[in-house]
Amino acid sequence: MPEKTRVGFVGCGGIAEEHLKGLAKNPDVALVGFCDINLARAEEMARKYGTDGKAFDKAKSMFENSSLDAAYFCLPPFAHGAEFEAIRRGVPFFVEKPINLDFEQARKISEAVKKKKLLTSVGYMNRYRRGVQLVRDLARGDQPILLLGGWIGGTPRAEGGAIWSWWIRKEKSGGQFLEQVTHTVDLARYICGEVSEVHAFAAKGLNAGAPEGYSIEDASVVNLKFKNGAVANLWASCSANGGGGGVSLNVYCNNMTAIFTGWEHSLRLLRKGAEPEEIKGEEGIFAIEDGAFIEAVKERDPSKVLCQYADGLKTLEITVAANQSMRTKQPVKLPIAAGAPRRAVKKRRR
Ligand SMILES: NC(=O)c1ccc[n+]([C@@H]2O[C@H](COP(=O)([O-])OP(=O)(O)OC[C@H]3O[C@@H](n4cnc5c(N)ncnc54)[C@H](O)[C@@H]3O)[C@@H](O)[C@H]2O)c1
Repeated sequence: MPEKTRVGFVGCGGIAEEHLKGLAKNPDVALVGFCDINLARAEEMARKYGTDGKAFDKAKSMFENSSLDAAYFCLPPFAHGAEFEAIRRGVPFFVEKPINLDFEQARKISEAVKKKKLLTSVGYMNRYRRGVQLVRDLARGDQPILLLGGWIGGTPRAEGGAIWSWWIRKEKSGGQFLEQVTHTVDLARYICGEVSEVHAFAAKGLNAGAPEGYSIEDASVVNLKFKNGAVANLWASCSANGGGGGVSLNVYCNNMTAIFTGWEHSLRLLRKGAEPEEIKGEEGIFAIEDGAFIEAVKERDPSKVLCQYADGLKTLEITVAANQSMRTKQPVKLPIAAGAPRRAVKKRRR
């Protein structure tokens, strides 16, 4: 019988469990290492999904004691850095989006990955959707000109789960645009190409009933200029309690309009002179993304992965530039100069 791929997790919270559920059913995978600063949570996940799984509260101990073939980093944006443990040992890794909050650290991780020629995968799972692939192919012959989209939801509630303890804090999550709309930014890049300039505006202090510790923007709008001449306006809001929001991305080309709606990014494709086409967004997209990563690791074939670390870094750069622009109220040209603000977010003075 072929050897199973031995996988370890750093960060065993909400999204880690989504990956674990699918990976536990994959006959090629043995889930052997579970690390979380909350050891009880790591132990719980090891019991539930482990194959003789061991729990750790430090990434270094997990890497030293688990002889891993692959690792998953499912950490909040402010908590990255343990990727170096994987890189040092040549262990291929998957990292959830956004890949970091500290752009300089992400840049160093990316350089180290490149030096080691390490296989990586970033959790931009929407790239694996059939509708997204189709629009990307068509956009090669019919260039996008205008893109509109983003995420609009209600006020985060204190009772909304553990994630809110960091999500509502700008210095921990980077804000809704960097943390959540990163999915839309990444799709815009994936479909339309690279961005040359970013200009953002934010609304703050208007979100009545926000929980204690809330320091993110209530809403933001971000304009992007692409190298190929296209433009985009992307948005975030977590203050729209009347409804009518949701997840969307509209891509307008000369002869085609692609309308993606909902978390699952169902597609309505309108083409000049043709009947509209509908492609429902896949359920179980995490299992599809994880299957591609595990196959890539087993076959040592990076082409199976649709977003590697250096690619995720480019998406991060746009959202970091958006934060910079919200702060300075000035447009930001890409690439961001080395030595630009170390953190995506300026720490507030007390
Ligand atoms: N792809 C998606 O659609 C999707 C969905 C949800 C979350 N995410 C991303 O996944 C990441 C994690 O989100 P989540 O919802 O799982 O958050 P979470 O708060 O549920 O879980 C994070 C876990 O990491 C642990 N942790 C924190 N610092 C650590 C450290 N230094 N070492 C080890 N463990 C540590 C916490 O104790 C917690 O258990 C975020 O970047 C988020 O944006 C992606």
